[in-house]
Order: sequence, then structure tokens, then C-alpha cells
Amino acid sequence: MADRPLIPRPPWRGRRVVLGVTGGVAAYKAVQLARDLTRLGALVDTVATRSAASFVAPLSFEGVTGRSVYSELLSGEGSALHIRLGNQADLVLVAPATADLVARAAQGRADDLLTTTLLVTRAPILLAPAMNDRMFSHPQTRRNLEHCREVLGYHVAGPGVGPLAIGEGEGPGRMLEPEALVDHAGRLLGRDPTFEGRRVLVTAGPTREPVDPVRYVGNRSSGRMGFALAREAWLRGAEVFLVTGPSELPDPVGVHTVRVHTAREMLEEVESLIPEADLTAFAAAVADFRPREIRPGKTKRSARGEKLEIELVENPDIALETVAMRRKGSVTIGFALETEELRERAAGKLEAKAFDLIVANDPGVEGAGFEVATNQVLILDRDGGEERIPLQEKGEVARLIMDRAGARLAVRGEGG
Ligand code: CTP
Repeated sequence: MADRPLIPRPPWRGRRVVLGVTGGVAAYKAVQLARDLTRLGALVDTVATRSAASFVAPLSFEGVTGRSVYSELLSGEGSALHIRLGNQADLVLVAPATADLVARAAQGRADDLLTTTLLVTRAPILLAPAMNDRMFSHPQTRRNLEHCREVLGYHVAGPGVGPLAIGEGEGPGRMLEPEALVDHAGRLLGRDPTFEGRRVLVTAGPTREPVDPVRYVGNRSSGRMGFALAREAWLRGAEVFLVTGPSELPDPVGVHTVRVHTAREMLEEVESLIPEADLTAFAAAVADFRPREIRPGKTKRSARGEKLEIELVENPDIALETVAMRRKGSVTIGFALETEELRERAAGKLEAKAFDLIVANDPGVEGAGFEVATNQVLILDRDGGEERIPLQEKGEVARLIMDRAGARLAVRGEGG
């Protein structure tokens, strides 16, 4: 995916993931999962149950991870393989987790390499259930999953709703897609005490101010920077709310995403969320003006003659109007898009809108600004600090911004 280039980066880089693969149709998706985790820099050891091998050849995993695939509990690798794998793991991810695996895990069985590894490890365990919807809705399966979650402290991602194996219709039971599982794994690997239990609010995207039922006044913002910030905060363990104008990007995994159209709708959502937010990032490119009136019908060319005049009135400034509603001790990040006098104007907005940090960029710089996957920014803080972040992918820029914001949040969290 263009928005998510798979390059080694935290929280996956250098981390050891034991990928348990069991015998379900979704096992084929586990190959891509293994590949994506590996490309993000994780060291992936695959543990495949015997029945998994009926669905996907172990060699496929070896091919994408460059590491051995293990199946046998008692093998030439030494009988303590499960101890080694379990001890070294930073995360044990079982995808797909069949009804049988969930049942055996809930019982604490130790009858193969995967279940013994589950018993040994003290790393977080993440199950990605995948099964027929009738098997999933069976009360015993429900109980097993609940037991894994509530009593054993395992994490469960999915299942999703969607087409099941051929001829089995639709229903809850489908394994989450590899991209989503990569993020669920990332959240368990990336736990950051500064963000855990915190609420983060992000505005993103353009706003669209209607002229008539088919036309609007808007701008070229894609929402990428705000979506990347929301994802980054979620990966660190926060509860994240994303209020976005129209954007083609999918909802970030785990993030409460609210989609709006106009600046006034965005303001209303922000007003209800900001009093509880520990960190707010105003990344939306809000339209500063809106048509005074929305024409009830489509504006016809014939009826307007050669000239069409649309009167624009000022929209609310969301960041400014909500200053007094901010939670005490919270941290606020603003953005500034400037084509001239970048530093001076950004510094002015930092002051005027009482931001802690402001991220300034010039859309005229090649590779920065609207509709591109990369950005180059200047970060100013309210203590006069300044840092230039060279051109890189927006996800990376988001990570660096959250590092800076997190440092401020940590200090405030200690009573500052
Ligand atoms: N912002 C906002 N509501 C608005 C306009 C801006 O919340 N109606 C926020 C943006 O999300 C950003 C910051 O304020 O974090 C600065 O936005 P920007 O568009 O650069 O500046 P403006 O204040 O609109 O000033 P100008 O258009 O004159 O540059």
C-alpha cells in the first residue's frame, strides 16, 4: 500500500514474533502476514501445527521470513524448543486461530509445539480467530475465547464479518486482514507508558462546504498526515478519536473514526471530545470560508448567465474556539501550511492558538504537502525549540511528532 511502505521501523523492528499458524483456510493469509512483519523488521519464527501444513507449505513461510519453520514438539531441534521460542518471544501471534486451537489454548493443553509455547511464554499473546460462523457462534467457542481473554489475559483481534470460505456464506468468523493484524501486533509490541490509558484526539482531512447539492468549496488535503498521527498514537497504546473530513483513506485500525463534511460539523465533534483529550493534534485543513447559503437545487448554467457569484462567510476556527475547553495539562499540536515566511508565520500561529508544538510545512517543496505520501516539516515548540525533519514518509514524520508530543505529555503527566 502506497501509504504504508513496509520498511523496518518501530515498534516491529528487531522484535521477535512467534507466528503460530493453525489449520484453517485463512492460513494462506498468514504468509502475507509473515512477510509484512518481516519487512517491518520483525524476526518471525513460524510455528505451524500439523494441520496447517495441509493448507500451506511450511516452505512458503521460510521463503518470506528467511527463518526456520517449526512443527514438531519433539524434534532434532532439541526437546526444549518450546522453551526457547516462548522465552525469546516479544509477542506470540496465532493467525489463524481455529476453533480447535482456541479450545486447546483455553484448556491449557500441551499437546503440540504451539500450545506448549503458549504455556511457556510471558510475552503478550494475540489470537486472530478464523472459523466458520456457526463454529464461532457456538456457545463453547464463545466461552473458550472469553476464558482466553478474561482469565488468561490473551488478546483477541477479530474475527471480522465478510465472505467465509467458498460456499459458507458470510458471517462473523473471517480472519482479519494481514494489514490489520500487523497493527494489532504493533500495538502490543509498541506499548508506551506515556500513551497507554491516554485519550488522543486528531482532526484530519479537508472540509467540504456545500454550494448546492452537488458542488462544494474544499481543498486538496488527503488526510494522510492526520491518519498517520492517529495510527501512531493507537500503536503506542492510546485510545484514539479521529475526526476527519472527506478522505479516501480507510479508518485506521482500532481508532474511533468520525467522518464529517463541514467545518461546523467538525467543530461540534471536537467540542464534545476535547475536554477529555490528553493530547490533541489539529491536522485538518479546515476550509476557512463557506458559502453563505446552500442553494436548494443544482445551480443551472442557463439560469446564471455568464457570471456566478458565491458569497463566502468565515468558518469557525476550530483550534482557536476550543482553547478554553482543553483538558488541564493536555498537550496540543497545531499545523501550519505556509507558502511564505514559514517559520515566522508558524510561530505566530503557535502563539495565537496556544499550541505546545506546531508542525509547519510548505506545500511548494517537492514531495511535501498535499496528495503525497511524504512530508518535510519544521517543528517549533512553545519554549523556542526548533527542529527540521527531512523529507520522509508521513508515517515516519508522525512517529517523530508523537515522540516530541509524548515527551511533553510525560512531563505534564508528572504534575507539570
Ligand atoms: N485550524 C482550525 N480551524 C480552522 C482553521 C485552521 O482548527 N478554521 C487549525 C488547523 O488544523 C491548523 C492550524 O489551525 O492546526 C493552522 O491552520 P492554517 O490553515 O495553517 O491557518 P489559518 O489559521 O487558517 O490561517 P491562514 O489560512 O491565514 O494561513
